[in-house]
Formats: sequence, structure tokens, C-alpha cells
Amino acid sequence: MPDPYILIRGLTQRFGENEVLRGIDMEILRGETLVILGSSGGGKSVLLKHLPGLLRPTGGSIQVDGVEISKLGDRELGPIRRQMGVMFQGGALFDSFTVAENVAFPLRESGLKDEGEISSRVAEALEIVRLPGQEERLPSELSGGMRKRVALARAVVGKPACVLFDEPHAGLDPVTADSIDHLIKDLQRTQGMTNVVVTHEMRSVFRIADRIIFLEKGKVHWTGTPSELRETTDPEMRAFVDGDSGEPWE
Ligand SMILES: Nc1ncnc2c1ncn2[C@@H]1O[C@H](COP(=O)(O)OP(=O)(O)OP(=O)(O)O)[C@@H](O)[C@H]1O
Ligand SMILES: [Mg+2]
Repeated sequence: MPDPYILIRGLTQRFGENEVLRGIDMEILRGETLVILGSSGGGKSVLLKHLPGLLRPTGGSIQVDGVEISKLGDRELGPIRRQMGVMFQGGALFDSFTVAENVAFPLRESGLKDEGEISSRVAEALEIVRLPGQEERLPSELSGGMRKRVALARAVVGKPACVLFDEPHAGLDPVTADSIDHLIKDLQRTQGMTNVVVTHEMRSVFRIADRIIFLEKGKVHWTGTPSELRETTDPEMRAFVDGDSGEPWE
């Protein structure tokens, strides 16, 4: 097996009585686009937050680039977090910051101080997400799809080795969703970026995924390629791919 960038073994996460992750075993390979599927409330966002150490596991192991991160403190997690860009579910921009200040945030966090360098990297990231010249606008002046693209620019501006996308397609029209898919694949091809994408958008899954994992009741229920997903006879996977609840239509 190729050397994984992230290796997860027996990961469990409990919030009180709620056992959200019940022993996740999975790998994320360098330079791949991995799509995470699963029903709503199944733990996809929780799993994603574990990758840069934003949650502390109840049990199990997470290795990033060979480093066990599950017991590290915030200071030791710094270099790991700088390798990863995150696009949170819902975008989560700072409303009182301009577009430029939002996008520059990870650069300032990582200690970059040269204002000229910051502005040119922000301009470049806005160019990549096809929002050139939008630096001075406020998030409230943008459409939902434009806000998503600003969040995407913020996730990639530091040229991270890996980008985590939590539902980048939610609420977008099909054309904008398609342009996000192109961006994700372009970053993978041109910069060798590893992408981890949580989405419900099946059309995008077939366009962007190299591999897919399906979470079910806090475990990995299924893993495979897009063509294996197309052909699968697993009843739960079929229902998910076909969007079929089993209730009859007239
Ligand atoms: N910080 C937290 N504290 C307590 N419970 C949490 C926390 N974060 C998530 N949960 C719980 O974990 C479960 C999984 O949530 P999660 O957000 O990972 O679902 P999801 O698969 O991303 O769903 P969706 O597709 O709707 O985004 C839910 O029951 C949620 O209430
Ligand atoms: Mg979620």
C-alpha cells in the first residue's frame, strides 16, 4: 500500500452518551481526493475536525505525516495545522472582516508579516476562486456562492499540503458547484494537494473522487472507487446513490 498521509486506527469519539465515532479505521493517501459520504448527523464533520486536531479523541490513533497527533497540545499541533486548510461547513467567514482580511487570516496566523506578500497571495487566491478584485467587499455584500468561494480561497491561500472541505457544494447552483469541483481537481493536479471532501452532491462525487468512504453508525461501512460505487449492490449504498428512501412514489 502507498505511504498514507493520514492514518486513522480505532478512532472513537463520544459526547456524553452520544457515541458518534465507534472505531474508524481509514487512510488518506498523499495527493488523492477522498470523498466522505454518510447520512446527516453520522459524524462526518466530527471526523473532519479530528484531522487537524481540533477535537480530542475519546480513543484511538491519528497519525499525520507519521506524527501521532491525538495527544498533542495546541502548541505542538501548530505545524500540523499549518499543513491543512479548512473550509468549514457553512463557510464561517468573519462578518466584520473584508474579503481580503478573511482570506489573509491563515497567513497572519502562521506569522507572515510582509504586507506586500500578504496582498499578493490574497490576490492570487481570489484569482484562483474566480473572484479577482473583490478584496474590499464585506461578506454581507456577497452571494452565498461567492462567500463559499471566499472560504475556499482562505482554505488554500497558505498553499497547504491538504485541504479539508465540509460540504463545499451545499446551497450552490449546479454551475457554481461545477466550478468548485474544477478548482478542487486543479489544485490536486497542479499543486499535488491532498483533498478530503465531505459532500452530499453525488454528481460531484463522481467527478472529483479518487476514492470514497461511507460512514454509517460511526464506522466505515464501505470504501471504494467511483466506478465501484456505480456498480455496488450493497443495499445501503444503492439507496444512498439513488436517493431512495424505500417509500413508494405514485
Ligand atoms: N462539539 C460537539 N459536542 C457535542 N456533540 C456534538 C459536537 N459536535 C457534533 N456533535 C454531535 O455529533 C453527531 C455528529 O455530528 P456531525 O456534525 O459530525 O454530523 P454530520 O455527519 O457532519 O452531519 P451533516 O451531514 O448534517 O453535516 C451529532 O449527533 C452531533 O449532535
Ligand atoms: Mg456535517
